[in-house]
Amino acid sequence: IPPGPELFTREFVADPYPAYAHLRAHAPVHRTTLPSGVEAWLVTRYADARQALADQRLSKDPRHSEAAWKQGKVGVPGEQRSGVGAHLLNLDPPDHTRLRRLVSKAFTPRRAEDFRPRVQELTDRFIDGFAASGEADLIHDFAFPLPIYAICDLLGVPEEDQDDFRTWAGMMIRHGSGPRGGVARAVRHMRTYLRELIHRKRGDLGDDLISGLIRASDHGEHLTEDEAAAMAFILLFAGFETTVNLIGNGLRTLLAHPGARAALQREPDERIGPAVEELLRYDGPVELATWRFTTCATPIGGVVIPAGEPVLVVLASADRDAERFAEPDKLDLSRADNPHLAFGHGIHYCIGAPLARLEGQIAITTLLRRLPDLELADPDAELRWRGGLIMRGLQRLPVRFTPEPA
Ligand code: HEM
Repeated sequence: IPPGPELFTREFVADPYPAYAHLRAHAPVHRTTLPSGVEAWLVTRYADARQALADQRLSKDPRHSEAAWKQGKVGVPGEQRSGVGAHLLNLDPPDHTRLRRLVSKAFTPRRAEDFRPRVQELTDRFIDGFAASGEADLIHDFAFPLPIYAICDLLGVPEEDQDDFRTWAGMMIRHGSGPRGGVARAVRHMRTYLRELIHRKRGDLGDDLISGLIRASDHGEHLTEDEAAAMAFILLFAGFETTVNLIGNGLRTLLAHPGARAALQREPDERIGPAVEELLRYDGPVELATWRFTTCATPIGGVVIPAGEPVLVVLASADRDAERFAEPDKLDLSRADNPHLAFGHGIHYCIGAPLARLEGQIAITTLLRRLPDLELADPDAELRWRGGLIMRGLQRLPVRFTPEPA
């Protein structure tokens, strides 16, 4: 392949899209060495990505890559060292089918919709925290706390314990730059806490999601306490940093596109639905879908990937593929034909998508309504991205604005 932009450099992390365009053109299914030393295949075209996401020959069980699994280099960060157990993102059918059916009974789109007033309340509370000061770091002060408190509430974590989750989530989100042990420790804290909570709730069910998980049954089958704890953990894990990045990347994109942002501010209620879909496509929260492993020789995009190899589907690249999207590098907040892959595709399609959309829509419209002249604190400063392979999100997003009267 002709020389192109290098992968995984500092420039790549700041803007990976030129490198992905190069791969789509010259090596759409490409074997590379990841920064962790693991060899993996990157799938970068839209059509191939959709096929791979739905292909049952690709397993989600990280033990297919045994050595890398033992070193904690594949799978959900920290899960191997903390013994989270089996959950949706490391299981295949039929186990995945069973657990997914049970959780779907408890975590319905209706439950997410009923949560709307609470998300609005949390959003206003976090904006209240900085609105009078004229400046904020929109990651630390807003995008980071909102999803963690929202999921804790949804699960039924008592309010007095929710600050602990903020601390543990902070340990997890720093894993790109901090000591690796921190993630495993945070995951272990969460796991222990959630097990105890499930045990306590069993005798006193409420209408929260954990009670729903305990209650859910299918043909007489229930989740065991271990399964319910692993499920609560994966809901937290999958629903937290992703939503931080939707809000953070989305706001950063809007601040860089004044025309699009002004149109959204004029008609927020009409425009916010398609706008959030376009923000998910244009600079989505999950750069690479979570790990997959070939169980047999598997052809993808004309390349036969041998058995036992890690495969990473590059959602961020698929969603910029000109074969599927008109003018893919252009931000168009009213884009009509937008079947983006930001929430995945196939049996592992994001179960939290209705909640994520709701949080993204409320967070962005409320912030722009309350602080209409919001702008970057220093337009010339380079924004720093968090490390880590799977997610794409900012470390900080410093802004300034006319203070709200106290
Ligand atoms: C799965 C993205 C928010 C829970 C996924 C997948 C993607 C994704 C791409 C598929 C991964 C794969 O196939 O490898 C996102 C994005 C979000 C978001 C972009 C925010 C903007 C949430 C929320 C929750 C959640 C709020 C829950 C509270 C899950 C779960 C799975 C999943 C449990 C695994 C489903 C399965 O394997 O059957 N998400 N997610 N996500 N997501 Fe989300």
